[in-house]
Amino acid sequence: MTFPSIATAVVQWQASHGRNHLPWQQTRDPYRVWLSEIMLQQTQVSTVLDYYQRFLDAFPDVASLAAASQDAVLALWSGLGYYSRARNLHKCAQTVMEQWGGAFPKTAEELATLPGIGRSTAGAISSFCFSECVPILDANVRRVLTRVLGFDGDLAQSKNEKQLWVHAQQLCPTENLHEAMSRYTQGMMDLGASICTPRKPSCLVCPLHDECRAGRAGNPEAYPVRTRK
Ligand code: ADE
Repeated sequence: MTFPSIATAVVQWQASHGRNHLPWQQTRDPYRVWLSEIMLQQTQVSTVLDYYQRFLDAFPDVASLAAASQDAVLALWSGLGYYSRARNLHKCAQTVMEQWGGAFPKTAEELATLPGIGRSTAGAISSFCFSECVPILDANVRRVLTRVLGFDGDLAQSKNEKQLWVHAQQLCPTENLHEAMSRYTQGMMDLGASICTPRKPSCLVCPLHDECRAGRAGNPEAYPVRTRK
């Protein structure tokens, strides 16, 4: 299969088999999507659901979050852990108010300049909210892509990590971006969470089975490759 057909397969699979009813999927408001992505960085969906709603009830927009005290923000974060996320969240809201006139920037490149937003989170926000043709590369997607491509470089080496980002960009949808980009990003996350799991991946029901090098070779668990120091 060619590259565009990989994107098409992920997009089609996401529509019928992916998660489509999570609260942060019902909006393209970058404030809401950003908040969800930060909460989901180190916390599972089932835990995030309650926190997300309480947080939005207290701080419905970026202005209200920026104006809050750090104590109030930390109190609502209490129990989620990784408190630097909450401090960066607050700092990011203040930066959006002070340097961006209260509106999140619309490109991944600019989003990644904000506190607490790395390249992958920036890609998630801009593909979900603005349909930008940019990839994500979190731990789940690294696993999916290294398996599909049979990519055996050690990702602890920055040249390999950079190379995988290049491949990730090349695999993104090229048409119908308004619908396709958000579905593709979510589909890659959903594949990593439900099918392309670290142990015993469900290759037989994977939409990428036919083009997956590791799946066809029968050794998906060998990826991502970690070379011993
Ligand atoms: N983990 C990170 N982002 C996510 C999202 N949008 N949906 C589900 N899980 C996620």
